[in-house]
Amino acid sequence: MDNQSDITTASKKTIYKEVMTQLAAIIQDEKNVTARLVTTICLLHHAFDYYYWTGFYLVDPDTPDELVIGPYQGTLGCLRIPFGEGRVKGVCGAAAASGQTVIVEDVHAFPGHISCDSRSQSEIVVPVFSPDGSLFAVLDVDSTDIGSFCDVDQANLELIMSRMVV
Ligand code: SME
Repeated sequence: MDNQSDITTASKKTIYKEVMTQLAAIIQDEKNVTARLVTTICLLHHAFDYYYWTGFYLVDPDTPDELVIGPYQGTLGCLRIPFGEGRVKGVCGAAAASGQTVIVEDVHAFPGHISCDSRSQSEIVVPVFSPDGSLFAVLDVDSTDIGSFCDVDQANLELIMSRMVV
């Protein structure tokens, strides 16, 4: 295998299943959202070699058209990302504004990508919703390889995120 992204889809599925089992055991009865978010980031970040930066950007209740940095693991992340009409920034802003998962195969080809760390080459951003359906946050995962994320990552991360805020 040439790089960390050469993990097979079967291996990805197995690891996501293990992470979900661990998450269920650890946070199922925990209502505190910070405890749930940090635990999820820790488990995901250490489960996959290709997860280089793993974190949440939260909708800021004081400025609801802006995301602010939340729990993360990895190198220094930028603090704020706007996503209001006419001022959408970056992959995180695009996912927050559309409410849809965004997979970026090559960050250099994504107009407006925000480069917090020049080693990041590909990324996936998954929206996280509150039980009332409003946007709560986005999950951002970056890899140092091109094309690390696929529909297996999307399906599993969307499932994990659908259980995040209770
Ligand atoms: N690349 C993201 C910004 C966050 S960092 O990667 C941690 C973006 O374009 O939204």
